[in-house]
Amino acid sequence: MTDGIQYWAVIPAAGIGRRMGADIPKQYLELSGKTVLEHTLDALYSRPELAGLVLVVDDQPVVKDIVRRYTQRKLILARGGKERCHSVLNGLQALHSHARPDDWVLVHDAARPCVRFSDLGYLLESVSNSASGGLLGLPVCDTMKRADADGRISATVDRAGLWRAFTPQMFRFGPLEAALHQALDDGFEVTDEASAMEHAGHCPLLVEGHADNIKITRPEDLPLAEYFLAQQGRL
Ligand code: C5P
Repeated sequence: MTDGIQYWAVIPAAGIGRRMGADIPKQYLELSGKTVLEHTLDALYSRPELAGLVLVVDDQPVVKDIVRRYTQRKLILARGGKERCHSVLNGLQALHSHARPDDWVLVHDAARPCVRFSDLGYLLESVSNSASGGLLGLPVCDTMKRADADGRISATVDRAGLWRAFTPQMFRFGPLEAALHQALDDGFEVTDEASAMEHAGHCPLLVEGHADNIKITRPEDLPLAEYFLAQQGRL
């Protein structure tokens, strides 16, 4: 922390995870005795730099039990919204009485429990020295194809300079909130925080992370996440 600037996290955890095909949202599924969400909270709270965290959730009975286990640092609750970007905005709204416009906010998907301690550190270090924020990601390593409406290849896309965008995505509180509002007002499709920042004219920094920062999306991702957590010594 420099000049009284603080770091906060916003965890959007109010999705329903339709592609998972489970009875409960994927962030509440169990991974070796804990929910996916708890593994994600553990990853974020492992960083001593964070002043506190906003958890954006729907009214789920399990939330109360989870929240009770996290008393060591500030945990603020906010309500989910229609799309992920609305949930993030609700989370930012809940930060108003705690954070200053220059503080940093790390937005991290609840469905990414395997983010590494070291990648979080690398992001914090790299982006704290940048002007317009940044995010974890990874250059693509497969050959990229563009498909036509029939599922046939219409082009092979040059992969030079192409990255996959992960979370956390780290921006100053004030500019991030302004960019999200502006994007929604303009009818711009907000796929992630960086896209809203780009729309507002910023050039976020891409910070190279690791491929184990998967977003749990389909049933086969659960055993994979379990493997990655075990590899990191977190089980
Ligand atoms: O659906 P997807 O995997 O892209 O969601 C990414 C993250 O955003 C998840 O952690 C999910 O819970 C969250 N989300 C949310 N509010 C929504 C939709 C998704 O908090 N309306």
